[in-house]
Amino acid sequence: MLSGKTIIVGVSSSIAAYKACEVVSRLKKLGADVWVAMTKEAGNLIAPLTFRTLSGNPVITDLFAPELNSLPVPHISLTKKAHLIIISPCTANIIAKLAQGLADDPLTTMVLASEAPKLIAPAMNPAMWRNPLVVENTAKLKRLGFQLIGPESGCLACGDSDIGRMSEPDDIISRAVGLLGGAQDLKGRHVLVTAGGTKEAIDPVRFISNRSSGRMGYALARAARERGADVTLISASGYLPDPLDIKAIKVESAAGMLEAVLDFYNNAQAVIMAAAVADFRPKHPKRSKIKKVERRKLKVEHRIELEPTEDILKAIAQQKGRNSRLLVGFALETEELIRNAKKKLEEKDLDLIVANDQTTLDGEAIKFSLISRDGRIDEYPLQSKDRAAHVILDRVAAAV
Ligand code: CTP
Repeated sequence: MLSGKTIIVGVSSSIAAYKACEVVSRLKKLGADVWVAMTKEAGNLIAPLTFRTLSGNPVITDLFAPELNSLPVPHISLTKKAHLIIISPCTANIIAKLAQGLADDPLTTMVLASEAPKLIAPAMNPAMWRNPLVVENTAKLKRLGFQLIGPESGCLACGDSDIGRMSEPDDIISRAVGLLGGAQDLKGRHVLVTAGGTKEAIDPVRFISNRSSGRMGYALARAARERGADVTLISASGYLPDPLDIKAIKVESAAGMLEAVLDFYNNAQAVIMAAAVADFRPKHPKRSKIKKVERRKLKVEHRIELEPTEDILKAIAQQKGRNSRLLVGFALETEELIRNAKKKLEEKDLDLIVANDQTTLDGEAIKFSLISRDGRIDEYPLQSKDRAAHVILDRVAAAV
């Protein structure tokens, strides 16, 4: 996605600097050439070696360091080839220096010398963020064309729960990809994605579910958004934060997911069912907590009767307007992966199915095959779910 792009990541001294590791690693995985410039104080929080290892390039902590000798005038040669500068985290001090045009450390020097777009992700204490000086400096940067992301509200290192948290790396990456003008081949398209494992209630405190984390669905939603699509994300995942610009519609059970999909699928040109939907649910969920029973000091067995849930993909495949909509399913198999996935593609009347085995459940990476209606099968090696999402969307974009 980002191959051929050079990105400078500036890291200043906020405790959120640890999240910059994730930003650098994700940019690198997306194919970018990443250079990290750190302030001296940031080096007290994260060792430059960490960024050097993650980026594969020398880390700029001193513009005259011998290891930058291969670059004639580092702050000029690097900034000339940079397509984007991201400052994450960006402290109140760096905001102030940038607003004044100061260049007294490698980071601010490079920003001042660069004509590339700049994205800053502030992180600081809420009182600092609300300080009129910071407000004014930030407004000035915005006026001058700096892009801002965050800060968000939440739990802060200082113990407060308020505004000041640096945005999540996923959201910073999405914004960066957008700024770099990644393929907008889904612009004007509406993509519906489902994610996570449904929960089927046994009683008010217990449920049946599966190991799906929802990460693949969230990666697809994010990637579709990056490519310009309007995205509806229907999620049974309990803990993943909403991707940037997408408000996930939260559901619990297979029945809840079916209802939400039927409510929203009408305008979608593509429906991607990445959710691990339960095939069975307790037939008689109890209204109060089931208690264990003992008779004559022996524990009594408890049986839960299960009934099948409705197949969501089959339900939409049978709806009117089927042909104006691309249906993508996932097949998670423990044996005979390709044969079983092909069978699902036919039985559910899908256009494309993503076949993967159980090793990718709940993980960060996925090894998968794509099988299409015409029988074409393409195999893909283990890769991040973000990258896989774009591979899948390449096929979606070509068809909608
Ligand atoms: N799916 C669905 N509705 C269900 C069950 C599954 O829409 N009630 C979708 C899943 O989101 C996935 C595809 O169907 O895209 C295949 O799901 P999977 O669980 O692998 O297969 P099942 O159809 O449930 O069949 P089996 O469990 O027998 O393998």
